[in-house]
Amino acid sequence: MTDYNDLISQAMTARENSYSPYSTFRVGSAVLCKDGRVYLGCNIENASYGETVCAERVAIFKAISDGNRDFSAIAIVGGINKITDFAFPCGACRQVLCEHCAPDLKIILYNGNETKICTLGELFPHSFGKSDIK
Ligand code: THU
Repeated sequence: MTDYNDLISQAMTARENSYSPYSTFRVGSAVLCKDGRVYLGCNIENASYGETVCAERVAIFKAISDGNRDFSAIAIVGGINKITDFAFPCGACRQVLCEHCAPDLKIILYNGNETKICTLGELFPHSFGKSDIK
């Protein structure tokens, strides 16, 4: 089984750049592409709250804008101070992941103690996607 400790540690590093003065909830994400490249993202908030972007979307959009759309895993860590809980991706991020990633994308969550691995298909079943509007 793949060891995702390095990907988690890169997500922790990305979290250091979180700009979250309003919620103080700091999130970091690291997306692993099939060619081995890793793209990092953090949440970036805005005084106009709705313009906030989540860490997962920042990482995915960085990869896509760099020409990389073959994803194998995404690690996510989040919390106010220390990481104490799993930070599951929000609904909007699940929809974006669903647009660009296969249902077998591994979602790697870390609560500061344990790692949980699930797939996008498990977290977001019965999704609405491109095949529905053909
Ligand atoms: N957040 C993420 O970065 N990813 C998620 O999937 C859920 C929420 C951020 C958005 C906001 O800056 C903060 O966490 C609190 O909602």
